[in-house]
Amino acid sequence: MIDLSGKVAIVTGGSSGIGLATAQGFLKRGATAVSADLDSPDDGQIEFVKTDVTNPESLQKLVKTVVDKYHHIDILVANAGIAEKKAPVSELDEDNWQKVINIDLTGVVLTNKYVVKQMEKQDSGGSVINMSSILGLVGGPKSQAYSAAKAGVANYTKSQAVTYAARGIRFNAVAPGYVNTPLLKTLPKETTDAMIGKMPIGRLAEPEEIANVIAFLASDEASIVTGAVVSADGGYTAV
Ligand SMILES: NC(=O)c1ccc[n+]([C@@H]2O[C@H](COP(=O)([O-])OP(=O)(O)OC[C@H]3O[C@@H](n4cnc5c(N)ncnc54)[C@H](O)[C@@H]3O)[C@@H](O)[C@H]2O)c1
Repeated sequence: MIDLSGKVAIVTGGSSGIGLATAQGFLKRGATAVSADLDSPDDGQIEFVKTDVTNPESLQKLVKTVVDKYHHIDILVANAGIAEKKAPVSELDEDNWQKVINIDLTGVVLTNKYVVKQMEKQDSGGSVINMSSILGLVGGPKSQAYSAAKAGVANYTKSQAVTYAARGIRFNAVAPGYVNTPLLKTLPKETTDAMIGKMPIGRLAEPEEIANVIAFLASDEASIVTGAVVSADGGYTAV
């Protein structure tokens, strides 16, 4: 099993779904896991710091609380996210657009900002895993803010991967297909039925399946920079 002993991890949105499975997977592998969420986890073992990922003061307080107690942060999973109101763009709900972009894209970047500042101070590397989605990689009917946010997370993460590679702070994004979590229950049944139809495995993924991939990316076993490619003109491209 992947060994994360002694590592301290923050998981945003760690009180439900993929985030909760990720935090539980970290604990099982020997790490300390802190859920940074609006709501506390229904799990006696995972620590909780009430956090709003759209609020810089809340994020600074999160980092301070964790560093005061554990003195370092080794892993960040910027996972908190919400679904969108599906509609063609001609019927876009502008408030919903802003809310989804604020949480799913800006929230990831802000969380990275304050945690990576701490990782820079520690000067001992780190692993940042940001949550994208299949909808950030391919088109989805009636999706606007969610697709834009998740595509933004994917490409933003590549830029950070090449920016921080030499300092040993690794950035990866995961882009799951459809996963059996409370987030899907916020969508109409015809939408979730269509999602199952698009899954090659013929079912929704389980949160633990995504959590296992995240645990690997968080571990020292993934500590080589596999994503940076040096192009012929000497520039770097993350893949
Ligand atoms: N479920 C899927 O099919 C699927 C597929 C691909 C990607 N994702 C992404 O995975 C991530 C987790 O989704 P999930 O399905 O586990 O959802 P979920 O609803 O079960 O969990 C999301 C968590 O994020 C928290 N959260 C929401 N807004 C927040 C904020 N402002 N600050 C802090 N926490 C906040 C919620 O309280 C909740 O605990 C999301 O980014 C989602 O977009 C989900």
